[in-house]
Amino acid sequence: MKRPFRILITSLGFLWALGSSLSVYATTLSEIDVSGGALIYERSCLVCHGIDGHGDGPAAFYNSAYSASRPRDFTVGNYKYRSTPSGELPTDQDIFRVITNGIPGAMPSFGGLPESARWKVVAYLKAFSQDATGKKPETVTLPEPAIPTSSASVAQGRSVYLALDCHSCHGVDGRGRVGLTRAKELIDSRNLPMPPSDLTLAGSFKIGPSARDIVRTLFTGLDGTPMPSYANQLHGQEVDAWHLANYILSLSPSN
Ligand code: HEC
Ligand code: HEC
Repeated sequence: MKRPFRILITSLGFLWALGSSLSVYATTLSEIDVSGGALIYERSCLVCHGIDGHGDGPAAFYNSAYSASRPRDFTVGNYKYRSTPSGELPTDQDIFRVITNGIPGAMPSFGGLPESARWKVVAYLKAFSQDATGKKPETVTLPEPAIPTSSASVAQGRSVYLALDCHSCHGVDGRGRVGLTRAKELIDSRNLPMPPSDLTLAGSFKIGPSARDIVRTLFTGLDGTPMPSYANQLHGQEVDAWHLANYILSLSPSN
């Protein structure tokens, strides 16, 4: 999508002043928020995500051997970090969460930006995607309540891990080592190598470090990567997702 960037730049001073005097909420994102977001995007995001949001900014190819560290192309509307079913767009809150927390090993946290500025850049990102219809995405329902960890839950999680064939990519020990798994053949939607995550390092998970982050990911999948959604396989035994999460967290040294 081509954007009238120069016109935006010339009107930015005025819009910035106006935009920053408004209080902005996810549900009331308007044109003016999108324009205010342009300046923030240009300063903080363009270097990696590119002027038109294609993920091709000047810093994008620094580590291009690993697709895992390639910035997202926002124009295809293919988001990884969502609370919505596979194939859907993320919620505003999902995008806000990524901007606030950053992504370990891939993207810095922008939690230092004022909250209103983060919401403006959310609006700006959404405008890159042609699918941004304004329709509110539905979120997946997680099985509640959460099952606290215990040795019985971890044992149940391990058998689910093997039954669902997670080990074919992540390895029996969770480390996803090349040679012991399908790691070598895995590619992402851009045909770049996409090794499976080392599941023994929960503290640096890109999805976030908690059991809830893992459970959410099992129901959403990581779109654009080989990591599928397990919503269908877990149907009828949704609580197994908590056992699986407890098992995965038990693999990390600090746990
Ligand atoms: C140093 C480079 C860098 C900068 C600067 C950067 N990003 Fe990112 N961003 C990335 C990378 C790399 C990824 C992909 C990570 C992955 O695939 O796990 C990413 C992913 C994302 C995602 C996740 C999309 C998804 O798939 O769910 C969002 C949202 C995002 N960036 C927004 C922003 C915003 C907004 C800014 C500026 C405030 C920004 N980024 C600045 C590198 C960067
Ligand atoms: C076809 C291969 C494949 C299978 C099968 C698979 N995964 Fe993954 N998984 C991946 C890849 C590749 C990634 C890394 C995506 C990335 O780097 O963005 C990943 C990422 C993850 C993450 C996120 C880690 C992080 O860094 O944020 C978790 C958790 C996870 N997988 C758990 C599982 C579980 C549990 C199962 C079984 C129910 C499973 N995976 C099955 C390929 C697979």
